[in-house]
Amino acid sequence: MMGNDDALLHRLGTLTLSFAHELRNDVLALRMTAFALSAQQPDDPSVQAVVRTSERMFATLEDLVALARVETAMEHVNLGAVVKSAQSDVAGVTFHNTLPANLFVLGHARLLSRALSVLYKNSITVAEGSVEVHTIAAHGNGSAQIDVIDNGPGIASELEHHIFEPRASTRPGGMGVGLALARLICEAHKGSIVLISGKPHAHFRIEWPAG
Ligand SMILES: Nc1ncnc2c1ncn2[C@@H]1O[C@H](COP(=O)(O)OP(=O)(O)O)[C@@H](O)[C@H]1O
Ligand SMILES: [Mg+2]
Repeated sequence: MMGNDDALLHRLGTLTLSFAHELRNDVLALRMTAFALSAQQPDDPSVQAVVRTSERMFATLEDLVALARVETAMEHVNLGAVVKSAQSDVAGVTFHNTLPANLFVLGHARLLSRALSVLYKNSITVAEGSVEVHTIAAHGNGSAQIDVIDNGPGIASELEHHIFEPRASTRPGGMGVGLALARLICEAHKGSIVLISGKPHAHFRIEWPAG
């Protein structure tokens, strides 16, 4: 049986999906108008800003909708490329990567990249100095895995056991949904995300069954 919280989250999920579908059509129309405008005024920076923002909004809504039916949208994706795409999304981090050349998993590239971005953005949020992140991808025991280890202060001990739950946050004004979303994405891939160690630094592991 679902608890009250689970039932509420389930209803919110359904609601979110229906909003996303509706918004998606409007944003699609907005994006096409923005493209038409930018063809007429290619040098106008504010038109270019509208194009970029509408593209980002569309991608976010696409990802949300994709998450609901990810098993039909999975393909063989190169983990190295996914890692690179997530890293191109964040500024201000020195990345150290260990990425085998041909490590493929069955998945949805943009969603996986979004899950990694959550980890990288959190490392920036909590950092006290310059941010360094190690990303190590490997074949495990009949599986693939990615370890992400930062050089930050580590996980607050009161959070260690429920860090993936929505609303678990130490960030002022934080919603605590980043890691919950990352977990949702990993589980939609029949994989998992776990905190390997919270001290002295944060060390997360994402794992997939063999694809
Ligand atoms: N790399 C990290 N180092 C230290 N603490 C972290 C790290 N990643 C996440 N956390 C902790 O987990 C909490 C939840 O993260 P998240 O789910 O992304 O939500 P939010 O960023 O909104 O707080 C953060 O507020 C922070 O306390
Ligand atoms: Mg976060």
